[in-house]
Amino acid sequence: MNDNDIDFTAIETPCLILDRERLGKNAKRFLDIAKGHKVALRTHLKTVKSVAVAKILTDNDPTAKITVSTLLEAEYFSSYGFKDILYAVGIGPNKFARVAALQNRHAARIMLITDNVPMAHSAAAFAGIHGVSFDFLIEIDSGDHRSGVLPDSDSLLEVAQVLHDSKAINLCGVLTHAGQSYSSNDKQAIAEIAEHERAAVVMAADRLMDMGVNSQVISMGSTPTVACARDLTGITEVRCGVYPFFDLDQYGRGICGYEDMALSVLATVTGHQREAGHLIIDAGGLALSKDISAQRFLPDAGYGYVCNAQSLERYLGLSVTALSQEHGKVAVRDAVLFDQLPIGAQLRVLPNHACFTAAAYPDYQLLERGELTACWPRVNGW
Ligand SMILES: Cc1ncc(COP(=O)(O)O)c(C=O)c1O
Repeated sequence: MNDNDIDFTAIETPCLILDRERLGKNAKRFLDIAKGHKVALRTHLKTVKSVAVAKILTDNDPTAKITVSTLLEAEYFSSYGFKDILYAVGIGPNKFARVAALQNRHAARIMLITDNVPMAHSAAAFAGIHGVSFDFLIEIDSGDHRSGVLPDSDSLLEVAQVLHDSKAINLCGVLTHAGQSYSSNDKQAIAEIAEHERAAVVMAADRLMDMGVNSQVISMGSTPTVACARDLTGITEVRCGVYPFFDLDQYGRGICGYEDMALSVLATVTGHQREAGHLIIDAGGLALSKDISAQRFLPDAGYGYVCNAQSLERYLGLSVTALSQEHGKVAVRDAVLFDQLPIGAQLRVLPNHACFTAAAYPDYQLLERGELTACWPRVNGW
């Protein structure tokens, strides 16, 4: 080890390494984008699942609006003082009691979403019977076709009517997520998808206005559309989630640079299979995830780029090429790499999709100014 090397020897692998400087830069970039468009950044904490990271993303503003993907996240972040929380996954009836208890316990508001009449009725009935109230947004399909009602559909007005008619429900507005932004690596094309996303959700809000519902929340966003949007007129807030860490998937689409990727997996070389032409690392499918989204625009991404543990520079052409549960296989074409990566050596893997990779770990090892300075817990599960 050289004097200036980061000392990774004391930690067990595989583990997550989070680069504090890159994280801070990414957080500022998206706070600045939102400020430039005069919209709120309702950061989606599904990726980071950590209050220490959330504080950086919200610039330490305890009144900041946040988005979550599980009720466990809602409980966790509200216990740290966040009060304006959007649970951005369609609600189901077996979760109403937990939402009501959480609102009561932490005096927080959990905004729920739905795109259908049965769930609107179900929420209204639960709230009425139990003497509680729920805030709702209606989910709009702006082209992804995963979920949501079309902005020009009758269904939008039908769902809105049920929510609006209930005294126990506050219909706060509309939300959309243009997941189809992941289909392109062309910034012009993504900007057009962002415009489609914007126009769809604003149209939905206009139609609600015609029936007497004033949308306080008109919410859109994914990391690619927020990064590329030219105009956000009519939008009140944007939601993006993967931007704090970025990953090969975003890098391949040109949404971030190589030096912006803040999350990596530290792994150890546990074997050499010289005849078979690969080495083995202790980061397998559970440690990296089997998400291969980055391969679309980075055909050699494999299950992650294999990088120098110190510099995070990629070893010449090296990727994780195959996975079993706890083993990662790295095909090696140039035998010199076996010498550069002897058994016991540590390396870092830049993942395909940070959200999925991070999900396997209880915490982050924080890397700051060349040292590991903290261990930040994550809130996994539902
Ligand atoms: C409803 C919703 N909003 C926002 C996001 C954030 O998008 P991204 O991961 O591109 O930042 C997601 C991602 O899955 C989502 O499902």
